[in-house]
Parts: sequence; C-alpha cells; structure tokens
Amino acid sequence: MDPVRDSRGQVLAPFDPKNTPRHVAIIMDGNGRWAKQRWLPRVAGHRAGVAVLTPLLEAAGEAGVEALTLYAFSTENWSRSEYEVDSLMSLFLETARGKVPELNERGARLRFLGRRWCLPEDVQEAIREAEELTRDNDKLDVYVALNYGGRAELVDAARRMIEDGLSPSEVNEATFASYLYAPEVPEVDLVIRTSGELRVSNFLLWQIAYAEFYVTETLWPDFSPEEFRRAIASFAARSRRRGGA
Ligand code: IPE
Ligand code: IPE
Ligand code: MG
Repeated sequence: MDPVRDSRGQVLAPFDPKNTPRHVAIIMDGNGRWAKQRWLPRVAGHRAGVAVLTPLLEAAGEAGVEALTLYAFSTENWSRSEYEVDSLMSLFLETARGKVPELNERGARLRFLGRRWCLPEDVQEAIREAEELTRDNDKLDVYVALNYGGRAELVDAARRMIEDGLSPSEVNEATFASYLYAPEVPEVDLVIRTSGELRVSNFLLWQIAYAEFYVTETLWPDFSPEEFRRAIASFAARSRRRGGA
C-alpha cells in the first residue's frame, strides 16, 4: 500500500493494526455546496457524492476497518424541498440497485439504521432486499443511516424497553445499548465529517461518547481514499484517555 501523506505531502506513520479504528462513522456533508460551486442543481452534488462510495469502501476494507456507518439522510432532512427529498429517495433506490450486487460480491454486509417504517415503501423494500442478500457476508459491515436521528434512536430504545416491561433496576448502560438500532456493532472510534462543519447534527449520540473526530474542509464529492487514509493515520496518532489520567 502507498504511504499515507498529510496535505503537505509529508509521509505519516505506517499503518498499525492495533491503532486502526474498528468502527468509523462518516457525516457525508457538502454535496449542495459542491454543486453550487459548479452552478449545478443540488441533486447533481448528491449524485457526485454516490460516486465516492466504492473507492471509500475499498479503502476502509484495506485499512482493516470492521464497520463503517454512513449518514445518508437525517430525520431533519425531510425539511428540505419536496423536490430534493424525492430526488434523494430516487437516488437511494438507484444506488441500491446499482451498488448492492457489487457490495455483495466484495463481501460487505449491509444494514440500515433509522426509522425505516417512515420511508417510502419501495425504499423499505430495497433495504430489506439488500439486508437479506448480504446478511452472511463478513468482510466489512456497512451501516447506512437513513431517516436516522440520534434522539429518535434513543426514544425508540426507551419505548421498546418499556414495551418489554423492563424494571428500572434492569436499565443500565449495557441494557440500554442492547436496545439501539445496531446493538452488535462495536462502539464508534472515529467520526469523520466533511465540509468543515463543527457539529454532530443528531448523529449517533450514544455511540460517539468517546469517539475521536476528524473534520475536513473537503466537500463530500471530493472526499478521496487518500483523505480517508489520512483520517485513519490521524486517529492512530492520538492518545485516547477515556477519562483516565
Ligand atoms: C449532505 O450534503 C447530504 C445530505 C444531507 C443528504 P448537503 O446536501 O447537506 O450539502 P450542503 O451542506 O448543503 O453543502
Ligand atoms: C447531516 O448533514 C446529515 C447528513 C449528512 C445526512 P446536514 O447538512 O443535514 O446537517 P446540518 O444541517 O449542516 O446540521
Ligand atoms: Mg449539509
């Protein structure tokens, strides 16, 4: 593998599997601004953003990442224009049809996080098919956050605990975590956000409690495997104290 370089071309430390994040979560932001810079409609930015996915998944697999969570549509994104929301839903369907067979061949297991029951019926169907087709794969776990909100996830977990009749003494951090959308996934080690915004935007509120952050000015459609490797190298160089001295 080529050495990882920082933005000035300096070679960074080589990969160390023991400092590789197991779970990387990405806020794929900046599609609209990318399109605006080119006098294109916002939807063209979303389309360009999809093209980044295959090389990214390849880079994640090569780096030894076990799980990747991609923020694709938030519970707040319904507030965009009807045209943009409809275009995004069509793009999910098109992407599912085009990319799921390819991901399956690469051994990726796809799972979806969010209030899927509020999505259009054809999107729900595509989600079910993708999960079913890839369920036995074990090379890379890819979680797509679709109609996902961190607060909604916590509310849904609390509701299900009440429905299951848990008593107050049974509710602890471990039981709570077991009611999240994907209880099997290791906790998030690294959050990457593109387009320079310094906020969480309702992403994985529980899971990022001790995550490291990597924010880049790069807009999502320009995010490259090299930059992904820089983020991994930056993570590897950090000291995670988790409240210790
Ligand atoms: C992220 O890009 C994609 C989604 C939220 C669906 P944006 O559409 O938020 O792009 P900007 O932030 O307007 O540039
Ligand atoms: C976060 O980006 C959601 C996704 C990337 C899907 P937004 O563009 O919706 O977040 P804000 O509006 O900048 O907080
Ligand atoms: Mg945005």
